[in-house]
Amino acid sequence: MKVIHSISELKETLCASRREGKTVGLVPTMGALHDGHASLVKRSVAENDVTVVSIFLNPTQFNDPKDLERYPRTLDADCALLEACGAQIAFAPSVKEVYPEPDTRVFSYPPTDSVMEGAFRPGHFNGVCQIVSKLFAYVEPDKAYFGEKDYQQICVIRRMVDDLGLGLEIVACPVVREESGLARSSRNTLLTEQERGIAANIYRVLKESCHLVAGVQAVHDFVVTKINAVPGLEVQYFSIVDGNTLADIKDWKDSESVVGCITVFCGSTPIRLIDHIRYK
Ligand code: PAF
Repeated sequence: MKVIHSISELKETLCASRREGKTVGLVPTMGALHDGHASLVKRSVAENDVTVVSIFLNPTQFNDPKDLERYPRTLDADCALLEACGAQIAFAPSVKEVYPEPDTRVFSYPPTDSVMEGAFRPGHFNGVCQIVSKLFAYVEPDKAYFGEKDYQQICVIRRMVDDLGLGLEIVACPVVREESGLARSSRNTLLTEQERGIAANIYRVLKESCHLVAGVQAVHDFVVTKINAVPGLEVQYFSIVDGNTLADIKDWKDSESVVGCITVFCGSTPIRLIDHIRYK
């Protein structure tokens, strides 16, 4: 596996592959890779001739400097995992390489990017669109792979791809969970063993809520009350939304596709965990 740090070397390498008629898959990451990322990389390796995995802790999507500071950085272990998964290229540029000048572009796709994470982390999705659009321009992938754990992120990126008329396929890959049901996330390494156990209640309650025969508001209240009753967990928001636009729904009949998206604070630090469940 090649580890590339410069955009020009990346472009040259990919130009040569494309001349040979090879297809290219991109897996954008911020590093601190885990089994969830491995599943995306393996899928790209199976579906493309060349897989590029970007490892870039993108500062423009962090609205909280403390969150950026404590984000785990594990480049050597990340490269070892990517090599084992069969990726051909790890692209790990510096901040200067990606942002020689501040990125002043504004992306706006309401309500998809303005609700939930968009409301609680102002500027977050603008930063995601800034970096993902740059990565798409460097790599020009045939397909790009994203984890469904960040459900809202995939919806926003799909809107951006449509808006910019980019001819690539966005592949949404299922959430990979720990045995306890906790969604795999780089942030899980910041939890203590005990907090990991507590956090498993999030998905347990979400799954339980699928079996309720009740209205949207009652299901919403059930989830929030049950999770808040677990010591060490505090729901920031739980929204039951249209699975594509992410607009709130009031009645199950409002949409063919309905998803419940949640963010919960866990532990004393506290660590912010996100998850979702599909109702239909
Ligand atoms: O999901 C992530 O890890 C990041 O938001 C992404 C897509 C790599 C952009 O920095």
